[in-house]
Amino acid sequence: MQQLILTRPDDWHLHLRDGTMMQSVLPDTARRFARAIVMPNLRPPVTGTEQALAYRARILAALPAGSKFEPLMTLYLTGNTTPQEIQRASQSGAIHAVKLYPAGATTNSDAGVTDIRKAYAALEEMQRCGMPLLVHGEVTDPAVDVFDREAVFIERVMIPLLRDLPQLRVVFEHITTRDAVQFVLSAPAHIAATITAHHLLYNRNAMFAGGLRPHHYCLPVLKREAHREALGRAAISGNPKFFLGSDSAPHEQRLKESACGCAGIYTAHAAIELYAEAFEQLNALDKLEGFASFHGADYYRLPRNTGKITLRKESWQVPVSQPFGEHRLVPLRAGENVGWKIVD
Ligand code: NCD
Ligand code: ZN
Repeated sequence: MQQLILTRPDDWHLHLRDGTMMQSVLPDTARRFARAIVMPNLRPPVTGTEQALAYRARILAALPAGSKFEPLMTLYLTGNTTPQEIQRASQSGAIHAVKLYPAGATTNSDAGVTDIRKAYAALEEMQRCGMPLLVHGEVTDPAVDVFDREAVFIERVMIPLLRDLPQLRVVFEHITTRDAVQFVLSAPAHIAATITAHHLLYNRNAMFAGGLRPHHYCLPVLKREAHREALGRAAISGNPKFFLGSDSAPHEQRLKESACGCAGIYTAHAAIELYAEAFEQLNALDKLEGFASFHGADYYRLPRNTGKITLRKESWQVPVSQPFGEHRLVPLRAGENVGWKIVD
Protein backbone atom coordinates (compact mmCIF):
# COMPACT_ATOMS: atom_id res chain seq x y z
CA MET A 1 0.00 0.00 0.00
CA GLN A 2 1.54 3.30 -1.09
CA GLN A 3 -1.10 5.71 0.13
CA LEU A 4 -3.33 5.67 3.15
CA ILE A 5 -6.39 7.89 3.55
CA LEU A 6 -7.74 8.05 7.08
CA THR A 7 -10.53 9.89 8.80
CA ARG A 8 -8.64 12.66 10.61
CA PRO A 9 -7.38 11.10 13.86
CA ASP A 10 -7.43 12.40 17.45
CA ASP A 11 -4.68 12.17 20.06
CA TRP A 12 -6.17 11.02 23.37
CA HIS A 13 -3.06 11.77 25.47
CA LEU A 14 -0.84 14.77 24.77
CA HIS A 15 1.49 17.14 26.63
CA LEU A 16 1.42 20.62 25.12
CA ARG A 17 3.22 22.54 27.93
CA ASP A 18 2.59 26.30 27.99
CA GLY A 19 3.83 29.69 26.78
CA THR A 20 6.39 29.84 23.97
CA MET A 21 7.15 26.12 24.34
CA MET A 22 3.51 25.30 23.65
CA GLN A 23 3.54 27.68 20.69
CA SER A 24 6.49 25.75 19.22
CA VAL A 25 5.00 22.26 19.49
CA LEU A 26 1.28 22.90 18.93
CA PRO A 27 1.49 23.13 15.09
CA ASP A 28 2.90 19.58 14.90
CA THR A 29 -0.22 18.19 16.58
CA ALA A 30 -2.69 20.57 14.91
CA ARG A 31 -1.43 19.50 11.47
CA ARG A 32 -2.27 15.84 12.10
CA PHE A 33 -5.05 15.61 14.65
CA ALA A 34 -8.51 17.18 14.89
CA ARG A 35 -8.55 17.04 18.69
CA ALA A 36 -6.34 16.09 21.57
CA ILE A 37 -6.80 15.37 25.25
CA VAL A 38 -4.40 17.87 26.82
CA MET A 39 -2.60 16.75 29.96
CA PRO A 40 -2.82 19.05 33.00
CA ASN A 41 0.68 18.53 34.46
CA LEU A 42 1.81 22.13 34.11
CA ARG A 43 3.60 23.99 36.88
CA PRO A 44 1.42 24.73 38.81
CA PRO A 45 -0.91 21.90 37.75
CA VAL A 46 -4.30 22.59 36.19
CA THR A 47 -6.48 21.63 39.14
CA GLY A 48 -9.56 23.82 38.58
CA THR A 49 -12.11 24.52 35.88
CA GLU A 50 -11.14 28.19 35.58
CA GLN A 51 -7.48 27.32 35.08
CA ALA A 52 -8.37 24.70 32.49
CA LEU A 53 -10.53 27.16 30.56
CA ALA A 54 -7.76 29.79 30.65
CA TYR A 55 -5.24 27.19 29.43
CA ARG A 56 -7.64 26.23 26.65
CA ALA A 57 -7.90 29.88 25.59
CA ARG A 58 -4.08 30.16 25.45
CA ILE A 59 -3.92 27.07 23.23
CA LEU A 60 -6.63 28.37 20.89
CA ALA A 61 -4.83 31.73 20.66
CA ALA A 62 -1.58 29.98 19.68
CA LEU A 63 -3.08 27.92 16.85
CA PRO A 64 -1.86 28.52 13.30
CA ALA A 65 -4.28 30.67 11.28
CA GLY A 66 -7.16 28.64 9.90
CA SER A 67 -6.56 25.62 12.14
CA LYS A 68 -9.70 23.94 13.44
CA PHE A 69 -7.82 21.92 16.05
CA GLU A 70 -9.78 21.48 19.26
CA PRO A 71 -8.05 21.03 22.63
CA LEU A 72 -10.00 18.80 25.00
CA MET A 73 -9.09 19.84 28.52
CA THR A 74 -8.46 17.80 31.66
CA LEU A 75 -8.18 18.49 35.37
CA TYR A 76 -5.33 17.32 37.57
CA LEU A 77 -6.75 15.28 40.45
CA THR A 78 -5.46 16.03 43.95
CA GLY A 79 -6.51 15.00 47.44
CA ASN A 80 -8.35 18.34 47.59
CA THR A 81 -10.44 18.05 44.41
CA THR A 82 -14.06 18.59 45.47
CA PRO A 83 -17.23 17.07 43.99
CA GLN A 84 -18.33 20.65 43.23
CA GLU A 85 -15.20 21.15 41.11
CA ILE A 86 -16.05 17.98 39.17
CA GLN A 87 -19.57 19.30 38.55
CA ARG A 88 -18.20 22.64 37.35
CA ALA A 89 -15.78 20.84 35.04
CA SER A 90 -18.46 18.55 33.69
CA GLN A 91 -20.86 21.44 33.06
CA SER A 92 -18.17 23.53 31.31
CA GLY A 93 -18.43 21.38 28.19
CA ALA A 94 -14.70 21.94 27.59
CA ILE A 95 -13.28 19.57 30.21
CA HIS A 96 -13.48 15.94 29.21
CA ALA A 97 -11.55 14.00 31.84
CA VAL A 98 -9.65 14.09 35.11
CA LYS A 99 -6.08 12.82 35.39
CA LEU A 100 -4.71 10.75 38.25
CA TYR A 101 -0.98 11.06 38.81
CA PRO A 102 0.24 9.05 41.77
CA ALA A 103 2.42 11.60 43.63
CA GLY A 104 6.01 11.29 42.44
CA ALA A 105 5.28 8.88 39.57
CA THR A 106 6.41 11.14 36.71
CA THR A 107 7.12 14.68 35.44
CA ASN A 108 5.27 17.36 37.51
CA SER A 109 3.41 14.81 39.60
CA ASP A 110 4.46 16.03 43.06
CA ALA A 111 1.01 17.61 43.57
CA GLY A 112 -0.64 14.30 42.67
CA VAL A 113 -2.53 11.83 44.80
CA THR A 114 -0.72 10.20 47.74
CA ASP A 115 -3.62 7.96 48.73
CA ILE A 116 -6.43 7.39 46.24
CA ARG A 117 -8.97 7.16 49.05
CA LYS A 118 -8.43 10.90 49.67
CA ALA A 119 -9.93 11.48 46.23
CA TYR A 120 -12.99 9.28 46.65
CA ALA A 121 -15.52 12.13 47.02
CA ALA A 122 -14.39 13.53 43.66
CA LEU A 123 -14.26 10.07 42.08
CA GLU A 124 -17.79 9.30 43.24
CA GLU A 125 -19.02 12.45 41.54
CA MET A 126 -17.13 11.47 38.37
CA GLN A 127 -18.77 8.07 38.49
CA ARG A 128 -22.15 9.78 38.81
CA CYS A 129 -21.68 12.19 35.92
CA GLY A 130 -19.73 9.82 33.63
CA MET A 131 -16.49 11.84 33.60
CA PRO A 132 -13.56 9.55 32.67
CA LEU A 133 -10.60 9.11 35.03
CA LEU A 134 -7.30 8.96 33.14
CA VAL A 135 -4.78 6.96 35.11
CA HIS A 136 -1.00 7.08 35.10
CA GLY A 137 -0.83 3.48 36.26
CA GLU A 138 2.43 3.09 38.13
CA VAL A 139 3.09 2.63 41.84
CA THR A 140 5.75 4.89 43.31
CA ASP A 141 6.93 2.52 46.05
CA PRO A 142 10.73 2.63 45.77
CA ALA A 143 10.86 -1.03 46.80
CA VAL A 144 9.11 -1.99 43.53
CA ASP A 145 11.33 -2.53 40.50
CA VAL A 146 10.84 0.25 37.91
CA PHE A 147 9.90 -2.32 35.26
CA ASP A 148 7.21 -3.83 37.51
CA ARG A 149 5.48 -0.62 38.59
CA GLU A 150 2.61 -0.89 36.13
CA ALA A 151 1.84 -4.54 36.91
CA VAL A 152 1.94 -3.88 40.66
CA PHE A 153 -0.34 -0.84 40.20
CA ILE A 154 -3.02 -3.11 38.76
CA GLU A 155 -3.04 -5.24 41.91
CA ARG A 156 -2.61 -2.51 44.48
CA VAL A 157 -4.67 0.35 43.02
CA MET A 158 -6.67 -0.49 39.90
CA ILE A 159 -8.49 -3.60 41.16
CA PRO A 160 -9.51 -2.05 44.53
CA LEU A 161 -10.54 1.18 42.75
CA LEU A 162 -12.84 -0.62 40.32
CA ARG A 163 -14.26 -2.72 43.12
CA ASP A 164 -15.13 0.41 45.13
CA LEU A 165 -16.35 2.43 42.11
CA PRO A 166 -17.65 -0.19 39.68
CA GLN A 167 -19.25 2.29 37.26
CA LEU A 168 -16.30 4.73 37.13
CA ARG A 169 -15.12 5.19 33.54
CA VAL A 170 -11.35 4.66 33.49
CA VAL A 171 -8.72 5.02 30.77
CA PHE A 172 -5.52 3.21 31.65
CA GLU A 173 -3.09 5.63 29.97
CA HIS A 174 -0.04 4.65 27.91
CA ILE A 175 -0.12 0.96 28.80
CA THR A 176 3.22 -0.81 28.43
CA THR A 177 2.74 -4.40 29.57
CA ARG A 178 0.97 -7.63 28.69
CA ASP A 179 -0.43 -7.46 32.23
CA ALA A 180 -2.20 -4.17 31.47
CA VAL A 181 -3.54 -5.50 28.15
CA GLN A 182 -4.98 -8.54 29.90
CA PHE A 183 -6.42 -6.44 32.69
CA VAL A 184 -8.20 -4.09 30.26
CA LEU A 185 -9.50 -7.02 28.19
CA SER A 186 -10.95 -8.69 31.26
CA ALA A 187 -12.49 -5.48 32.65
CA PRO A 188 -15.98 -4.16 31.75
CA ALA A 189 -16.56 -2.12 28.58
CA HIS A 190 -16.15 1.23 30.34
CA ILE A 191 -12.47 0.46 31.07
CA ALA A 192 -10.23 1.42 28.11
CA ALA A 193 -6.56 2.13 27.39
CA THR A 194 -4.33 4.32 25.25
CA ILE A 195 -1.16 3.03 23.58
CA THR A 196 1.75 5.22 22.42
CA ALA A 197 3.62 4.84 19.13
CA HIS A 198 6.95 4.51 20.91
CA HIS A 199 5.77 1.61 23.06
CA LEU A 200 4.57 -0.12 19.86
CA LEU A 201 7.86 0.47 18.05
CA TYR A 202 10.55 0.04 20.70
CA ASN A 203 11.44 -2.26 23.55
CA ARG A 204 13.75 -1.42 26.45
CA ASN A 205 16.89 -2.28 24.48
CA ALA A 206 16.39 1.05 22.71
CA MET A 207 17.43 2.87 25.89
CA PHE A 208 20.83 1.16 25.86
CA ALA A 209 21.63 0.74 22.14
CA GLY A 210 25.38 1.40 21.95
CA GLY A 211 25.22 3.64 25.04
CA LEU A 212 22.70 5.43 27.21
CA ARG A 213 19.91 6.95 25.08
CA PRO A 214 18.08 9.65 27.03
CA HIS A 215 15.71 10.39 24.14
CA HIS A 216 14.28 6.89 24.50
CA TYR A 217 13.53 7.41 28.18
CA CYS A 218 9.92 7.99 29.18
CA LEU A 219 7.51 6.88 31.86
CA PRO A 220 6.19 4.29 32.03
CA VAL A 221 9.60 3.10 30.86
CA LEU A 222 9.94 0.93 27.72
CA LYS A 223 9.53 -2.76 28.56
CA ARG A 224 10.86 -6.06 27.23
CA GLU A 225 9.95 -7.43 23.79
CA ALA A 226 7.15 -9.77 24.90
CA HIS A 227 5.29 -6.77 26.30
CA ARG A 228 5.77 -4.75 23.12
CA GLU A 229 4.31 -7.65 21.16
CA ALA A 230 1.26 -7.81 23.44
CA LEU A 231 0.65 -4.08 22.91
CA GLY A 232 0.82 -4.58 19.14
CA ARG A 233 -1.75 -7.36 19.27
CA ALA A 234 -4.09 -5.16 21.33
CA ALA A 235 -3.67 -2.15 19.03
CA ILE A 236 -4.49 -4.10 15.86
CA SER A 237 -7.23 -6.23 17.43
CA GLY A 238 -10.03 -3.89 16.41
CA ASN A 239 -11.20 -3.91 20.03
CA PRO A 240 -12.68 -0.44 20.73
CA LYS A 241 -11.14 -0.42 24.22
CA PHE A 242 -7.74 0.44 22.71
CA PHE A 243 -7.01 3.80 21.09
CA LEU A 244 -4.31 6.25 20.14
CA GLY A 245 -2.63 8.40 22.80
CA SER A 246 0.79 9.61 21.71
CA ASP A 247 1.98 10.83 25.14
CA SER A 248 4.19 13.19 23.16
CA ALA A 249 6.08 14.85 26.02
CA PRO A 250 8.56 17.55 24.97
CA HIS A 251 11.48 18.54 27.19
CA GLU A 252 14.31 20.86 26.34
CA GLN A 253 17.38 19.06 25.04
CA ARG A 254 19.56 20.18 27.96
CA LEU A 255 17.17 18.63 30.51
CA LYS A 256 17.08 15.28 28.69
CA GLU A 257 20.84 15.09 28.07
CA SER A 258 21.70 15.49 31.71
CA ALA A 259 23.04 13.52 34.68
CA CYS A 260 19.41 13.20 35.76
CA GLY A 261 17.45 13.38 32.53
CA CYS A 262 13.70 14.06 32.37
CA ALA A 263 11.23 11.39 31.31
CA GLY A 264 9.33 12.04 28.10
CA ILE A 265 9.60 11.33 24.36
CA TYR A 266 8.58 13.89 21.76
CA THR A 267 6.62 12.29 18.91
CA ALA A 268 4.14 14.98 17.82
CA HIS A 269 6.30 15.84 14.75
CA ALA A 270 5.53 12.40 13.26
CA ALA A 271 2.86 10.94 15.49
CA ILE A 272 0.44 9.39 13.00
CA GLU A 273 3.32 8.46 10.68
CA LEU A 274 4.97 6.45 13.49
CA TYR A 275 1.73 4.64 14.23
CA ALA A 276 1.45 3.83 10.50
CA GLU A 277 4.92 2.26 10.69
CA ALA A 278 3.91 0.20 13.69
CA PHE A 279 0.69 -1.03 12.08
CA GLU A 280 2.48 -1.74 8.81
CA GLN A 281 5.04 -3.90 10.63
CA LEU A 282 2.10 -5.92 11.90
CA ASN A 283 0.45 -6.12 8.45
CA ALA A 284 -2.55 -4.33 9.89
CA LEU A 285 -2.74 -0.92 8.23
CA ASP A 286 -6.46 -1.58 7.74
CA LYS A 287 -6.86 -1.47 11.54
CA LEU A 288 -5.21 1.93 11.97
CA GLU A 289 -8.28 4.05 11.27
CA GLY A 290 -10.39 2.44 14.01
CA PHE A 291 -7.57 2.79 16.53
CA ALA A 292 -6.61 6.34 15.55
CA SER A 293 -9.90 7.93 14.49
CA PHE A 294 -12.92 6.05 15.87
CA HIS A 295 -12.42 4.17 19.14
CA GLY A 296 -11.36 7.17 21.21
CA ALA A 297 -14.15 9.43 19.96
CA ASP A 298 -16.69 6.71 20.69
CA TYR A 299 -15.31 6.18 24.19
CA TYR A 300 -15.39 9.91 24.97
CA ARG A 301 -18.92 10.13 23.51
CA LEU A 302 -17.85 12.72 20.96
CA PRO A 303 -18.69 12.73 17.26
CA ARG A 304 -16.22 11.02 14.94
CA ASN A 305 -14.29 13.45 12.74
CA THR A 306 -15.42 13.90 9.17
CA GLY A 307 -12.25 15.31 7.55
CA LYS A 308 -9.49 13.13 6.11
CA ILE A 309 -5.71 12.99 6.14
CA THR A 310 -3.49 11.33 3.56
CA LEU A 311 -0.27 9.47 4.31
CA ARG A 312 2.15 8.42 1.62
CA LYS A 313 4.70 5.64 1.97
CA GLU A 314 7.78 7.77 1.58
CA SER A 315 10.87 7.96 3.72
CA TRP A 316 11.92 11.34 5.15
CA GLN A 317 14.60 12.40 7.57
CA VAL A 318 13.67 13.86 10.95
CA PRO A 319 15.69 17.00 11.85
CA VAL A 320 18.32 16.52 14.59
CA SER A 321 16.45 19.04 16.74
CA GLN A 322 13.67 21.61 16.53
CA PRO A 323 12.79 24.87 18.32
CA PHE A 324 11.15 24.64 21.73
CA GLY A 325 10.44 28.16 23.00
CA GLU A 326 13.89 29.71 23.53
CA HIS A 327 15.38 26.21 23.61
CA ARG A 328 15.63 23.13 21.37
CA LEU A 329 14.12 19.69 21.69
CA VAL A 330 15.24 16.40 20.18
CA PRO A 331 12.34 14.57 18.50
CA LEU A 332 12.09 10.78 18.27
CA ARG A 333 14.13 9.46 15.30
CA ALA A 334 16.23 12.65 15.20
CA GLY A 335 18.61 12.40 12.22
CA GLU A 336 16.97 9.12 11.18
CA ASN A 337 14.12 8.23 8.85
CA VAL A 338 10.38 7.81 9.22
CA GLY A 339 8.73 5.61 6.57
CA TRP A 340 5.43 7.43 6.13
CA LYS A 341 4.81 11.06 5.25
CA ILE A 342 1.74 13.21 5.74
CA VAL A 343 0.59 15.01 2.59
CA ASP A 344 -1.95 17.84 2.49
C1 NCD B 1 5.36 12.99 30.77
C2 NCD B 1 5.80 14.45 30.83
O1 NCD B 1 6.96 14.75 30.53
O2 NCD B 1 4.97 15.32 31.17
N1 NCD B 1 6.53 12.17 30.68
C3 NCD B 1 6.59 10.91 30.18
O3 NCD B 1 7.63 10.29 30.27
N2 NCD B 1 5.55 10.34 29.62
C4 NCD B 1 4.52 12.67 31.95
C5 NCD B 1 3.81 11.35 31.82
O4 NCD B 1 2.88 11.21 31.02
O5 NCD B 1 4.17 10.42 32.55
ZN1 ZN C 1 1.74 11.61 29.55
